[in-house]
Amino acid sequence: MTLPGKIRIYEVGPRDGLQNEPEIVPTEVKLDLITRLASAGLDRIEATSFVSPKWVPQMADNAEVMAALSKKQGRVVFPVLTPNLQGFEAAIQAGAREVAIFGAASESFSRKNINCSIAESLDRFKPVMTRAAQQNIPVRGYVSCVVACPYEGRIVPEIVADVAARMTDMGCYEISLGDTTGVATPKDIEDMLTAVIHRVPINRLALHCHDTYGQALANILCGITMGIRVIDSSVAGLGGCPYAQGASGNVATEDLLYMLNGMDIETGVDLDKILDAAWYIADFLGRPPASRVAVARHPNQKGS
Ligand code: HMG
Ligand code: MG
Repeated sequence: MTLPGKIRIYEVGPRDGLQNEPEIVPTEVKLDLITRLASAGLDRIEATSFVSPKWVPQMADNAEVMAALSKKQGRVVFPVLTPNLQGFEAAIQAGAREVAIFGAASESFSRKNINCSIAESLDRFKPVMTRAAQQNIPVRGYVSCVVACPYEGRIVPEIVADVAARMTDMGCYEISLGDTTGVATPKDIEDMLTAVIHRVPINRLALHCHDTYGQALANILCGITMGIRVIDSSVAGLGGCPYAQGASGNVATEDLLYMLNGMDIETGVDLDKILDAAWYIADFLGRPPASRVAVARHPNQKGS
């Protein structure tokens, strides 16, 4: 197996994780979590979303979170989700220096998640891309449902490739391919990536694997052997999408890191500090992290 020397971990816990909690996490807890994640060495931490607070009330404190973080941006960048120009302008106003637009390879998911068709979403992204280019703001693109959709079932890899190519042509510096429901197996990831890399260079792709069926690490390893070098993960395995019922969190950052460390793949991220962040948020939420490594390495579990 040919393995890379380095992988970049893109942390999504404060956004993908906390958007899906039934209770709204206080702003100061979000900021404390983000500070702990930054001190672990992560250099991309997705902090919040500038979406409608009626749709996702958990992210309603977006401006407050971003304003506090904008003072800290240096080595660490705190990207935020912006579905449209309204979100983009609010994000920039609050101090964001990087944003992400998010589309889908499924028509039904697109409608449930952002209230428009795939074609309409691409039209809504265009003015965001124009404004971002004018202000030198890097834009990441997400494509959800790259293997399956919670409403439509299996998704054809060529549709994923087409949406990813359109978002790349618009100017996204990277496309994160989301297995939103976490149902994929490595064969699905291989088939999907084989189609996508015909249209988008592999060095502009990232993987975003939810771990509903426990396949995320296997899927990520498949992606890495195919040349993927950026992996999204979520501290404590937090997460899900309010519009993908039943999907669990992303691969836990600490589980990903344990695997990469064991394979001598450099990330620049400190496992002990990620574990500290994982237990901090788990204690706040009142349940253990959805992560094998965090549970195995909890100080109170040692020797038991
Ligand atoms: P809409 O209702 O179609 O928007 O929502 P609209 O333009 O018709 O406006 C309606 C109202 O929303 C207006 O307010 C606007 O001001 C307001 P009103 O006049 O009724 O008071 N509005 C906004 N408010 C704040 N920020 C904005 C904004 N835009 C409009 N940016 C919209 C369209 C996209 C806003 C809505 O559908 C929405 O907020 N959806 C939330 C989507 C979301 O956050 N989903 C979870 C993240 S995606 C995800 O988790 C997947 C990912 O992790 C990858 C994977 O796992 O696959 C990324
Ligand atoms: Mg997600």
